[in-house]
Amino acid sequence: MTTLLKRFHYITALLSSSAILLFLYFQNSEVVLKYSYYSFVSERAQRTSHICLEDRGNSSWFSERYKPTVPILLNSTNSELHPNISSWWKELQDVPNVSNYTEVVDQLFSLFPDKEHYSDAGPDRCRTCAVVGNSGNLLGSNYGQQIDSNDFVIRINKGPTEDYEKDVGNKTTHRILYPESAVDLDDNTHLVLLPIKVLDLQWLISAFTTKNITQTYTKVPSTIKASKDKVMILHPEFIRYVHDNWAEGHGRYPSTGFLTLIFALHICDKVKVFGFGATSDRNWHHYYDETLTLFEYGSHGGDFENKTINQLHQENKILMYKGLT
Ligand code: C5P
Repeated sequence: MTTLLKRFHYITALLSSSAILLFLYFQNSEVVLKYSYYSFVSERAQRTSHICLEDRGNSSWFSERYKPTVPILLNSTNSELHPNISSWWKELQDVPNVSNYTEVVDQLFSLFPDKEHYSDAGPDRCRTCAVVGNSGNLLGSNYGQQIDSNDFVIRINKGPTEDYEKDVGNKTTHRILYPESAVDLDDNTHLVLLPIKVLDLQWLISAFTTKNITQTYTKVPSTIKASKDKVMILHPEFIRYVHDNWAEGHGRYPSTGFLTLIFALHICDKVKVFGFGATSDRNWHHYYDETLTLFEYGSHGGDFENKTINQLHQENKILMYKGLT
């Protein structure tokens, strides 16, 4: 009887310890399963963010042109210009009143943010951008929501949003302009000045202070409604780089739209392009007015710019939304 009881106790102990061992085993495997599930998920998230960051090195055509180290926005530490760039830039628009560039730059950065903007590129960044040109192909496109869903929405010159929201959206994080194309901005928008002469830098200072510059080669607004803390200035070396590397010297200097697109390639990880494209008779038309400009007319190499933009699309570096052409 005692032997039977002992055997019974022995079997119960054996069974319970096996149950405990089995429990522990499954618990651990659940941990393992859970762990591998989470690492699978995070690996997938990482892969997704890598999808966002375009592989800039996978096209020799692109690598030959793209220079990651070029200064994009001006600040007090990168403002000194190489003599070649200085002379090229200062002769783009011949207006009187050429002042001392260095003095003007000193004034600029006592007034506007003196920062290293957008030096945060890396595998974890996933910044999507919409570049919105002013082409009439936006009318009836219904692109508004798609445009607004991007982190940055970069608009150009006078392109309005009011009354055109359905086709062009209503978010504007950046607007690229120069004195002759200036419009008022809301407080959330970065004013990005495209300076084509020293006087443009002086106009920016004047517009926020004395308001005494009202004339360049034409009449310009004496002031602008915009947030002083959000002002940025394209670097003259960047303008020259776009002219040399991307427009391959066509035109005297690149169009605002083309410069904006290359600017976006440098500060964004995914670039979607809206509102670019002329009419079939080669006119630049606008979605908001009736003006027509032959795009090969004037200072820009419109035809070559278009070819380069199409090539960027072919190489998967930008995504073109062609609207109703
Ligand atoms: O006419 P505006 O210069 O203000 O337009 C901004 C930019 O939009 C142009 O520099 C050009 O690159 C682009 N655009 C275009 N096709 C049009 C009108 C403008 O590609 N029909």
